Amino acid sequence: MSKDDTNAATSSPRARGRWAAIIAGVLVAVSAAAAIAIYLGLYNVAADVPHTQPVYWLLETARERSIEARAKGITVPGDLADPNRIASGAGQYAEMCADCHLAPGMKRTEIARGLYPRAPELRRGTDLTPAEQFWVVKHGLKMTGMPAWGVTHSDELLWDVVAFLQKLPDLTPEEYQSLVESAPSHHETMEKMQDHGTEQHDH
Ligand code: HEC
Repeated sequence: MSKDDTNAATSSPRARGRWAAIIAGVLVAVSAAAAIAIYLGLYNVAADVPHTQPVYWLLETARERSIEARAKGITVPGDLADPNRIASGAGQYAEMCADCHLAPGMKRTEIARGLYPRAPELRRGTDLTPAEQFWVVKHGLKMTGMPAWGVTHSDELLWDVVAFLQKLPDLTPEEYQSLVESAPSHHETMEKMQDHGTEQHDH
């Protein structure tokens, strides 16, 4: 067979059809193997054993793309730099987030040490935009331990937390402490929450 004959054979519709069939067959076999492995319990869901590289890649990519797509339509309030928002956010952060995400001057907690995936230390900043942070805080992240705070908190209060997150990377332990102390008391926060809560559940 001359070289020209081979080229003609591989680019013919028939040869292309054969390749398509082989690729489809491999895909079906791989999916079937994955399904059987999952069904037999071969994949270890333990939080003290890291994901395999392909699963890690899959979950990471799904998370990034999902957050990006869903945060697109969110309008960010213009007053995230408002000191009242930041103080309210600091109080909520200390109460609801620091156990997992830690804070300036705080030692790693038992929860933070055992979580997998790890909760990122938010004082180191994140790659997420404020709209994306809001979306994550409101809706949480499946199979990570990151709760959906929107189930129990109004959007307004969650924007306060996002406002605080913008400030967090610049804070010293002392500044963090005094911000938390300046936050409205838990009781006031609860009242604000209730007002917004009833507004929200009207529709
Ligand atoms: C029970 C532990 C826990 C608590 C409490 C918690 N988180 Fe998380 N959070 C996580 C984990 C774990 C992740 C990482 C998930 C991942 O890697 O996919 C996460 C992810 C995030 C992210 C995404 C960070 C990034 O760069 O991808 C943000 C933002 C966030 N949390 C904010 C908050 C805020 C604000 C609060 C408090 C209102 C909070 N979290 C409370 C466990 C927690």
